Amino acid sequence: MFRFARKLARAAHIRASARMDASMFTALLNESVSVKEQDGVYFDSQWQPLGVSRQFIEDAETYHQRYFARADFVELIDQCLTVAGVDRKEALQVLDIGSGSGSSVFALCELLPISHVIASDISPQLLRFLSDFAKTREELKGRISTCCFDLHVPFFKQNCFDLIVGAAILHHLVDPAKALKNVAAALKPGGSLILVEPLEAGSLLLTILFEKVLIALKAIDQEEGAIAGLMRAMRLDIQSRLGVPVLKPFTADLDDKWVFDEPYLQALAEELGLSAVEIHPGQTNLERVYETSFRSLLRVSGNAEAEIPPIVLEAVREFDEGISVDLKQKMCPTGIIIFRK
Ligand SMILES: C[S@@+](CC[C@H](N)C(=O)[O-])C[C@H]1O[C@@H](n2cnc3c(N)ncnc32)[C@H](O)[C@@H]1O
Repeated sequence: MFRFARKLARAAHIRASARMDASMFTALLNESVSVKEQDGVYFDSQWQPLGVSRQFIEDAETYHQRYFARADFVELIDQCLTVAGVDRKEALQVLDIGSGSGSSVFALCELLPISHVIASDISPQLLRFLSDFAKTREELKGRISTCCFDLHVPFFKQNCFDLIVGAAILHHLVDPAKALKNVAAALKPGGSLILVEPLEAGSLLLTILFEKVLIALKAIDQEEGAIAGLMRAMRLDIQSRLGVPVLKPFTADLDDKWVFDEPYLQALAEELGLSAVEIHPGQTNLERVYETSFRSLLRVSGNAEAEIPPIVLEAVREFDEGISVDLKQKMCPTGIIIFRK
């Protein structure tokens, strides 16, 4: 009986500490910002989707169907919190940037049970999916605030958040350094900023893998099929994103605009007054990291049903086995990047 009462009191404490009302939310906003509230979502009155590709605005529904509720997001965010040493029992003020329709936000709510999460994105369409889903879940009620603004503008006051998480946002931004300046300012001293982003060295290895796949497909006369087309497109895509932060004439039109290298991230940390950056592999199964990336690419490009010819699978596995786990640790296509303030 006593244990049950304690459990109830703890649940009430969790609900109270994880809640945030409208006045608490608006108190976090920069003086220059004014917001309109619509159905529980706060919109920056100056909102404009500049440099944002169709997939997140006009084609948001397709994007949402493809990416929402990915079980591997919980695993990924779990890994992020572990490598960053986040105390999951603390009531943290968390900001998620580039939340889309919410996979990273829901994972954060599950893994940080007494924290409040502010979900943010430039796409009203994706935030609508997020907030509609949150309303259907009892355990999420009051745990999430949702706001729509461009990360290139200073939206929050300085020193508001204990933790800021961005799962696949920086490489979508026209000016990553400008946006991160605002993000870094909103982080409290002692806080951590965790990003999950494509890394240049691992992405270059992907272009070599895709070349091997094309050679395997040629050997079985399948150079014109869906997988071959995807391999050619992705090689070009990665090649056009090299050399951050050099803005190319077509950068604004790319969905994925950059792949990042360590010297750039270290220079960024210095410029933003953050301590040295730490980079960890974004994938847990390093034995099969390139096979996982290849399969994941098929899935997110709408080719989940495509049959992988045995000769292709063999080429992919041979590629994975040819690179030591130690080297993959340093040359993973995706990295968990941690900045501390
Ligand atoms: C790959 S998605 C992020 C996925 C998301 N974290 C999740 O868990 O599903 C990238 C997101 O960045 C958003 N975005 C792009 N440019 C932005 C900007 N300038 N400011 C804020 N969000 C932006 C897009 O609308 C999109 O939802």
